[in-house]
Amino acid sequence: MARLGVNIDHVATVRQARKADEPDPVWAAVEAELGGADCITFHLREDRRHISDRDAEVLRRTVATKLNMEMSVAAPIVKIALELRPEQCTLVPERREEVTTEGGLDVVRLRRRVGPVVGRLKRAGVLSSAFIEPRLEQVRACVDLGFDAVELWTGAYAHARSAAQRERRLEALVAALDAGLDQGLTVHAGHGLTYRNVEPLAAIQGFDEFNIGHSIVSRAMFVGMREAVREMKALLVRGERPLVVCPDEHAEDAQAKRG
Ligand code: PXP
Repeated sequence: MARLGVNIDHVATVRQARKADEPDPVWAAVEAELGGADCITFHLREDRRHISDRDAEVLRRTVATKLNMEMSVAAPIVKIALELRPEQCTLVPERREEVTTEGGLDVVRLRRRVGPVVGRLKRAGVLSSAFIEPRLEQVRACVDLGFDAVELWTGAYAHARSAAQRERRLEALVAALDAGLDQGLTVHAGHGLTYRNVEPLAAIQGFDEFNIGHSIVSRAMFVGMREAVREMKALLVRGERPLVVCPDEHAEDAQAKRG
């Protein structure tokens, strides 16, 4: 079964709304792990709008599963990542004016900036992943640069406006997944995934990890973090084993009903 990475940035966003000391994203990470999270994901943004340096340091010391740091390739952030040495770093695009990460990192265009960062992470023993759009040229560029993994941006799938559009975007994700797996990459996915749209993705074999933040933190406000994570994990399991009505049994049932 694909692993569940829980992104806890939004807990820090609530804290920063008051610049107070609660709710603590470190506490959220513990609760998420108790609910079954396989990975804790955070994004140390250059403007520190939610996660702080203190959070990153304490998470590094307390997360018992796997710590995944989302980051830009800005030099001061890379320096912090190399000191922290989380299990995995995911390179993402970052713009100050965006509300959240919008789309993938253009590894094709930025290969000269991205390549050296991958090398430095590798030498530090940190797994490197790139958050990319599900396009074959992006996957190929990540292979060329020596990434261990890619995280496919699922935002287009999540925001599809029709079933046909969703299907096409799912196909693009499957094509990028297959291309990544064929070339030896570990393939993760994330962004915009919710309790309503995750199952079709979970049913696709091959994804290693789904990183989900907003939907889980939103639900946690009402049912608690532990329960919210437990429910998302249950959907990943259910998605992997979709309920299939065997046509023959169905016919037999129908026959029995008709008498
Ligand atoms: N993966 C990456 C690389 C992200 O930047 C984000 C958003 O911070 C997520 C996953 C989680 O997205 P969401 O909050 O929409 O679940």
